[in-house]
Amino acid sequence: MADRNLKIAMICGSLRKQSYNRKLMEVMIEKKPNHWQMKEIEIDTIPFFNQDVEAEGDPESVQQLKEAIDEADGVIVVSPEYNSGSPAVLKNALDWASRPAKGTVLKHKPFALAGASPGGAGTVQSQGQTRQTLLTLDAYIMPGPKIMVGSVHNKLSEDQSEIADEATIKRVEKFLGAFEEWMLHFK
Ligand SMILES: Cc1cc2nc3c(=O)[nH]c(=O)nc-3n(C[C@H](O)[C@H](O)[C@H](O)COP(=O)(O)O)c2cc1C
Repeated sequence: MADRNLKIAMICGSLRKQSYNRKLMEVMIEKKPNHWQMKEIEIDTIPFFNQDVEAEGDPESVQQLKEAIDEADGVIVVSPEYNSGSPAVLKNALDWASRPAKGTVLKHKPFALAGASPGGAGTVQSQGQTRQTLLTLDAYIMPGPKIMVGSVHNKLSEDQSEIADEATIKRVEKFLGAFEEWMLHFK
């Protein structure tokens, strides 16, 4: 039987052009199974969450965020760690997506978390915070395998344009395979 087509939404927690986390996301896109459709949700134009703005109706960027999450079979978040936590842009996007509290698109949505850092611990604390937020919202977060790429600056190709480390690439493949199983578990 042919593999079932799956839609995966991706959120990058870094807005930086040369982001290591974006490079990690690109490895995922490169290694994705053929029957996966992966699409990034742009979060850079989402305004700061404000209940007064929300009361007037979701801005277009927020509508797009919610629709993309709702339509997806699963969401992969690839994010840096800032000051031992998750970046504000990522938390902000999740706060918008968490609304309305009853009926959020995050409820029962399969999620997987990944991250890269030049530091040794590879975003463990950032992922912990994001996991806590998503748990509060009843999302289904894949427990493992985890992707926490430490010393990422030493894992690039010679021209620095991509992640070239074989062990990291193998781990990404394992992660994607596990996420497929995780998503199908809830379908
Ligand atoms: C405000 C700020 C705080 C940071 N805090 C951490 C941290 O707590 N842990 C860590 O591993 N790296 C930290 N870093 C370093 C980031 O991991 C590094 O800048 C990384 O390149 C950001 O991810 P990106 O390349 O995807 O943009 C911090 C960077 C910034 C700008």
